Amino acid sequence: MNFNNILVEKENGLAKVTINRPKKLNALNKETIEELSAAFEILEEDATVKVVMITGSGEKAFVAGADISEFANFSVSEGGFLAKKGQEMLFDFIENLSKPVIAAVNGFALGGGLELAMACHFRIASENAKMGLPEVSLGVIPGYGGTQRLPQLVGKGKAMELIMTAGMISAEEAKACDLVNHVVTLEELMPFVEKIASRIMRNSMVAISAAIRAINANFEDGVNGYEIEISEFGECFGTEDFKEGTTAFLEKRKANFPGS
Ligand code: COA
Repeated sequence: MNFNNILVEKENGLAKVTINRPKKLNALNKETIEELSAAFEILEEDATVKVVMITGSGEKAFVAGADISEFANFSVSEGGFLAKKGQEMLFDFIENLSKPVIAAVNGFALGGGLELAMACHFRIASENAKMGLPEVSLGVIPGYGGTQRLPQLVGKGKAMELIMTAGMISAEEAKACDLVNHVVTLEELMPFVEKIASRIMRNSMVAISAAIRAINANFEDGVNGYEIEISEFGECFGTEDFKEGTTAFLEKRKANFPGS
């Protein structure tokens, strides 16, 4: 995979996607969004990849937002199209990926950067990370799902405050309001994510995909999440992973999931 703005490495079932525009604090320009979208499409189909993590290059930023220089002169319709296209091709795609996606938030995660982290299945931050949705300070609102996913994670009142003040919160504050799951030092960030990824990979990835679909169903309009859970639960009984998982338990041995 050759890209101009991102790096993709794979090792032991974990794919590491790094946004690599450190001089622009990894801001998401059009090309970077397109490359991320292409990379996630490839990783979704790559059977050797079980877990994906996304981070920013350098020690200062995860992603400092959408690239302001690209949209400063946009019209109403161009603005609407920017948000719609980005949501469809990247942010929603990540949220609905069939394999776990972890954000390793290693610095500023602002605007589209925090929205990218929030589209991931969960987030680990380093102590130096700073997070916020500063869009109203630019005269615009979050457009890559931020007004929807932030209240899902931190509650409506906290989301209202963060968006209205355009303020930044520290990693510890983000943990206190459940925006991130863990805070570790910058040096510990990669090993910590790798450890969680390897813990995930011990389990049935087929069942994990079903769990992602069932959990996401809770946040879809017009969808009854309990019904999706029942149907996904039932489907698990037809998988080889279920046969292996239950047999291994009864035989008091470690499961060796075939992944089908
Ligand atoms: N879009 C485009 N360029 C950006 C950017 C963004 N969202 N965020 C940072 N950059 C660029 C800066 O313009 C600067 O480029 P330059 O060296 O060519 O002038 C470079 O990245 C470094 O940023 P700088 O502002 O000098 O770093 P800093 O340490 O002084 O400040 C921030 C860091 C994150 C506080 C500041 O860059 C910032 O406020 N960025 C915008 C955040 C934002 O509003 N995001 C939401 C967008 S919708």
